[in-house]
Amino acid sequence: MVSKRVCSLVIAILFGLVMAGLAVAAGPPTITLKAKMGNVTFNHAAHQKRLKCGQCHHRKGPNGKQVPYKPGQKIEKCSVCHNANSGMPSSLNSVKKVMHKNCRGCHKSMHKTNPKAPTRCFGCHVRKK
Ligand code: HEC
Ligand code: HEC
Ligand code: HEC
Ligand code: HEC
Repeated sequence: MVSKRVCSLVIAILFGLVMAGLAVAAGPPTITLKAKMGNVTFNHAAHQKRLKCGQCHHRKGPNGKQVPYKPGQKIEKCSVCHNANSGMPSSLNSVKKVMHKNCRGCHKSMHKTNPKAPTRCFGCHVRKK
């Protein structure tokens, strides 16, 4: 009897650890991207449901181009690679530029079919009061 209980407790703990591990790998459900234009509240979890991780996350490949994310790969903040000193082409050398390209680019491409994807400045940036 006792051993059964201990068993299910151990299983419950292991399950909890796995779930916590998955939560860390998935990153935060919402991310506040700070900007002088007004912060952007990014619903990471909602985007993860619709898209593949590799549509936003990648690593640097041997030819200098990006390699889309595959499970097990390391995910880092965009600023680690997209900054003024990383030797990126000038169109990709800041977080602002790559976020606009990635985020706004996708929203623009699908705006006709899904008007819920914001393309106007203050559809993403929320003005400070
Ligand atoms: C629509 C784009 C998009 C998709 C899809 C997406 N992410 Fe993200 N993710 C982001 C952005 C933007 C950040 C914040 C990066 C920053 O602060 O520089 C982020 C941050 C993270 C972080 C935290 C990184 C850090 O060091 O702070 C993890 C972990 C992560 N994502 C994992 C995932 C996984 C796993 C998936 C797929 C299940 C996924 N993401 C899908 C855009 C996306
Ligand atoms: C480990 C380094 C690294 C990180 C971290 C990284 N990138 Fe990149 N990214 C690259 C490289 C390398 C390229 C290719 C540059 C080239 O073509 O000269 C690239 C290209 C791009 C491009 C242009 C190509 C395209 O697909 O349109 C965009 C947009 C982009 N990254 C967005 C992001 C975003 C958004 C993040 C954070 C969620 C991010 N990157 C994080 C290395 C990185
Ligand atoms: C590959 C396509 C794609 C990319 C990349 C993408 N989005 Fe979206 N986004 C969507 C779609 C589709 C919707 C509409 C969701 C719906 O139907 O409710 C959306 C909705 C939104 C919304 C409004 C609804 C909400 O979820 O709060 C915001 C804000 C937003 N995206 C911000 C961002 C930001 C910031 C990034 C980049 C870090 C980004 N998106 C990257 C496809 C994309
Ligand atoms: C799809 C969402 C989206 C749209 C639409 C958008 N932005 Fe952004 N913008 C972002 C994100 C995400 C960042 C990056 C914040 C960070 O550095 O973490 C950003 C960064 C910026 C920055 C640099 C940070 C700062 O000082 O504010 C400026 C300036 C800016 N945007 C202006 C604009 C203007 C002007 C427009 C309209 C023409 C616009 N944005 C439309 C998402 C968006």
